[in-house]
Amino acid sequence: MTTTHSPREDIAEVIATEAEIRDAVERLAGELTEDVGELSPILVGVLNGAFVFLADLVRRLDFPLEIDFMNASSYGEGTVSEGLEIQTDLSLDVEGRHVVLVDDILDTGQTLQGLVRHVTGRGAASVRTCCLLDKPARRTVDFEADYVGIEIPDRFVVGYGLDFAQRHRNLPFIGVLRPELYQSQ
Ligand code: IMP
Ligand code: MG
Repeated sequence: MTTTHSPREDIAEVIATEAEIRDAVERLAGELTEDVGELSPILVGVLNGAFVFLADLVRRLDFPLEIDFMNASSYGEGTVSEGLEIQTDLSLDVEGRHVVLVDDILDTGQTLQGLVRHVTGRGAASVRTCCLLDKPARRTVDFEADYVGIEIPDRFVVGYGLDFAQRHRNLPFIGVLRPELYQSQ
């Protein structure tokens, strides 16, 4: 038998509790209902990190909507070489549709900025962005999300969909790992 331990034991500090996340999701659902509730939007989850947030968010939205997913990574730090590599593209046709990009965390801003351009290029009528977490101190591009759940300090966080080396996505809250765990990778 292999020995295992709970991922909770790897957490040094909780940044957002389950209750705080629930409140933030509820508030965001209210804002989205107000703004796109009559528009039959397409919600696009940015994989992999947004899968938990999107699942909780859509169950609080009581209006017609469709769901799609994308997976992309940004590369390049300068404004010239900056770009987006798309691993999984949209499967729905967004032309003339109102799109809400849903991501776990807004960090440098490069990924979402690139995705907004991409979806706009596909002819969407409007593109909004919704992030559970925002680390404004990390921004390298001029980009803000339309809807933000919780602003957090410049710390690398895991849980509620967010990973470090693909692990800890299943934690129901958001926290910071014990420092020796970040160093061991
Ligand atoms: P950006 O293009 O730098 O804004 O990248 C955002 C993406 O980087 C997020 O969607 C996450 O996948 C990842 N990321 C940024 N910060 C964190 C973090 O603190 N924990 C886990 N993933 C993060
Ligand atoms: Mg991501």
